[in-house]
Amino acid sequence: MDKVLEVKELSKQYTKVLAVDKVSFDIAPGEIFALIGPNGAGKTTTIRMISTLLTPTSGDAIVAGNSIVKAPKKVRESITYLPDEAGAYKNMKGIEYLRFMAGLFTNDPKKVNEYVERAKSINKLGERLNDKLGSYSRGMIRKVLLSRAVMTQPKLAILDEPTSGLDVLNAIEIRKTIKQLAAEEGMSFLLSSHNMLEIEFVSDRVGIIAKGHLLVTGRTDELKARYNAANLEEVFERVVNGNEIL
Ligand SMILES: Nc1ncnc2c1ncn2[C@@H]1O[C@H](COP(=O)(O)OP(=O)(O)OP(=O)(O)O)[C@@H](O)[C@H]1O
Ligand SMILES: [Mg+2]
Repeated sequence: MDKVLEVKELSKQYTKVLAVDKVSFDIAPGEIFALIGPNGAGKTTTIRMISTLLTPTSGDAIVAGNSIVKAPKKVRESITYLPDEAGAYKNMKGIEYLRFMAGLFTNDPKKVNEYVERAKSINKLGERLNDKLGSYSRGMIRKVLLSRAVMTQPKLAILDEPTSGLDVLNAIEIRKTIKQLAAEEGMSFLLSSHNMLEIEFVSDRVGIIAKGHLLVTGRTDELKARYNAANLEEVFERVVNGNEIL
């Protein structure tokens, strides 16, 4: 089957830093791919370029057949992006926020209802959706934002550190939701995370990035065997510390 995402030698030069250097990888339909790497490795920069929020210096990425450089508007129709530090409209009730966001995608009131119902079934916040977002815990806000991000059934959901700062139980719930959406609806995911346990559980394949270089990609079990490592954390440490180009 065709790839949902093909990243081709994508690079970003900020004024002083080459943040992303010829990064290439792809994601198949229904696949969950995670970028892992130290702080400042280039994860958010890569994600923001693919989300069409940042223009690449060179290279390209093709999302569901459309180029982020040549057809960013088309790309936006098939993706959703959840930023690492997403704020929410504090004075809106949860339910109002979901309706407002659904209304940005369609003018059809039936569709709006459909999207909102879908978001409600994903975030499972029930009656609390009638409270203002300002009164939510961090975990509840992340759940609302995730449900908002996937309510329109995008082909590719791009989530920058989706569970950062959440307690274990909330993080587990979000991971389960992601896996379920991929398995049952064929949605693809591009994630970034610092949590190796999370990545091992949730992703089909990972890419290890450091100093703008994508050093290896592969399935977790393959990488553990290749680096003779007990877990992904060991793989990560061996790849990042043992790499001569860094
Ligand atoms: N707007 C910007 N202007 C200049 N340099 C930037 C900008 N954004 C990021 N950088 C630099 O680019 C590099 C990559 O940053 P990026 O935010 O992509 O890393 P990251 O892997 O997401 O890190 P973290 O794990 O801390 O979120 C860093 O050296 C950072 O300082
Ligand atoms: Mg980041």
